[in-house]
Amino acid sequence: MEDVKNRILNCTACNLSKTRKNAIWGEGNINADILLIGEAPGAYEDSTGRPFVGKSGQLLDKILAACGFNRQEHVFLSNVIRCRPPQNRTPQNEEVEACIPFLFEQIELVNPKIIILLGATALKRFFKNDNMRITKCRGEWIEWKNRLVMPVYHPSALLRNPGLKRETWTDFKKVVLKYREIVNADHYSAHV
Ligand code: URA
Ligand code: URA
Repeated sequence: MEDVKNRILNCTACNLSKTRKNAIWGEGNINADILLIGEAPGAYEDSTGRPFVGKSGQLLDKILAACGFNRQEHVFLSNVIRCRPPQNRTPQNEEVEACIPFLFEQIELVNPKIIILLGATALKRFFKNDNMRITKCRGEWIEWKNRLVMPVYHPSALLRNPGLKRETWTDFKKVVLKYREIVNADHYSAHV
């Protein structure tokens, strides 16, 4: 992981490397049973070098806490791309393709049992299928290379549309139940 991290921090494979302050390699337990995949760093991530530290990240931390999960122990947080796109625009294809091998390397290293795809960008690129819709796929387990993958709404979608929080909580409850089933039967969550 140290090697992947250093390659991410020094990467110049696309133009986003010219405008970034920091490349974001990931955060959490590098042996976690749950790996979460976001889209791209925003302004706070770019300034701090850490993933999910802005408004969406704070909401994500609350959801994880309600599940009894935290960054230190249960999850590793990663992204489709590692440098902030100007004005937080959606990553372009060539940026995604330059960056995505880091993600698949990290998946092999962390070796999680459960992968959570946060939002449409992660969903479509993970499965290389532009026809997959987050509204259709969210909340369902998909088997992939001996792992279980769950697409869910991106926390930024929940901030824009709080009505989606209900369905997202339903989805994360399934994650807690699965975690008890395949990782730790005694996993504690105050809410599930
Ligand atoms: N949104 C993401 O998708 N990733 C981050 O790291 C922060 C916000
Ligand atoms: N799958 C991909 O799409 N890209 C990789 O680099 C590895 C697996």
